Amino acid sequence: MSGKSVRETFAGRKAFIIAAIGSAVGLGNIWRFPYTTYENGGGAFIIPYIVALLTAGIPLLFLDYAIGHRHRGGAPLSYRRFNKHFEVFGWWQVMVNVIIGVYYAVVLGWAATYTYFSFSNAWGDKPIDFFVGEFLKMGDIANGVSFEFVGMVVGPLIAVWLVALGVLALGIQKGISKSSNILMPVLVIMFVVLVVFSLFLPGAAKGLDALFTPNWEKLADPSVWIAAYGQIFFSLSICFGIMITYSSYLKKDSDLTGSGLVVGFANSSFEVLAGIGVFAALGFMAAAAGQEVSEVAKGGIGLAFFAFPTIINEAPFGNVLGVLFFGSLTFAALTSFISVIEVIISAVQDKLSMGRVQSTLVVGVPMMVISVFLFGTTTGLPMLDVMDKFVNYFGIVAVAFASLIVIVANEKLGLLGDHINKTSSFKVGFIWRFCIVVTTGILAFMLFSEGAKVFKEGYEGYPSWFVNTFGWGMAIGLIVVSILLSRLKWKNEPADSIAEEK
Ligand code: PFF
Repeated sequence: MSGKSVRETFAGRKAFIIAAIGSAVGLGNIWRFPYTTYENGGGAFIIPYIVALLTAGIPLLFLDYAIGHRHRGGAPLSYRRFNKHFEVFGWWQVMVNVIIGVYYAVVLGWAATYTYFSFSNAWGDKPIDFFVGEFLKMGDIANGVSFEFVGMVVGPLIAVWLVALGVLALGIQKGISKSSNILMPVLVIMFVVLVVFSLFLPGAAKGLDALFTPNWEKLADPSVWIAAYGQIFFSLSICFGIMITYSSYLKKDSDLTGSGLVVGFANSSFEVLAGIGVFAALGFMAAAAGQEVSEVAKGGIGLAFFAFPTIINEAPFGNVLGVLFFGSLTFAALTSFISVIEVIISAVQDKLSMGRVQSTLVVGVPMMVISVFLFGTTTGLPMLDVMDKFVNYFGIVAVAFASLIVIVANEKLGLLGDHINKTSSFKVGFIWRFCIVVTTGILAFMLFSEGAKVFKEGYEGYPSWFVNTFGWGMAIGLIVVSILLSRLKWKNEPADSIAEEK
């Protein structure tokens, strides 16, 4: 579809909500939330978490929806419609998604492969050695890096890209909406079965105790509050273009806040469910090995690719558990991955007035190649780790802070609030604006406190050239590229304000 023609829309509110939940529910819910909760006060974490959800998550979700819906464009066009000079913030958000996209695909590929491995416990009885050695063929970067391709990683990685690009080429209704309509119900069913299954494993109660026992003292620690805000930002994918893009495909008279509340609470419910399932399984793992839950509790890659294979080895009907766990991880990550790439496609489509298939290819093919060349190699894992830290923490927090401050400082909140109130059931006012201003301050604090720490201490003992290149270098590179992209001429100069583009 060209930029001049009518923008495609979701068929209705339900279609939008399902796609938006598909985008929100991802790795953040399954492998990040449980361990973050456990580490940050267990049951007591619920307080900062709910505060962050209500004061930052939901208000910013409304804000993203308002921007995309009012301006009817991908992130760059949406920011440009505030003011020509703001376009760069949109591109910055797009660039964050470029980086996330190239490595989110890799984890997705691993998860899909492990779903297949689950049928036969292909990892044998030493899952860590298998993952790092046989599967990833990882070298030790202290001895210099090598970039040899790893066949077992590259094949599924390319497959994941082809599936996602196929969906995206079909457009909003036939591609994104249809695929989430199929994948999301399957995900929910698989996941509920997984949680019930885990609850019946011996030792499950021990795991839940470890997760939920509150450590109230932790509430006095600012880093716990930062963790809560970080979790909400990551998990709801707010403030980096994804929700702006999806809401730009909403019909004109859509209830924005009503949908936002459903998406926000559905996402959090899924996280809590994941916490229960994951810790019940970890409780079993601890009990089976005669260890404490604290000795086996993990998040992220360690949880999925080290702990779960061990659990699957030992649990009754372990293979079923494996297929449910890795299948859920694959489906959850796939719908999120699609939304990440859509941000980029939508931006290119707007700027170059390109058709859907063409823009999918222009974005997808180079990204797939980069993804394979960077992460399909023996140095894929450490690179992913460093880039994840920098883009997922600094990238997201920095871009969120910058794009909020420009809106707040230029007094655009009133405009967006009025827009929300025109079509929505739940009205926003002073409290909403106040929450956004406070969150902007919190983001600044998060950025500078963690930035100073990594600057001083390095990251996870990686060599400093490595962190400088793939961490700081990439973070600064993103900003430079965003400035350049915002300088490029539009193929068809868009109307400045959507009000004129009826
Ligand atoms: N919100 C999704 C998740 O929780 O995994 C998707 C996502 C989050 C994608 C953060 C990328 C990201 F950096």
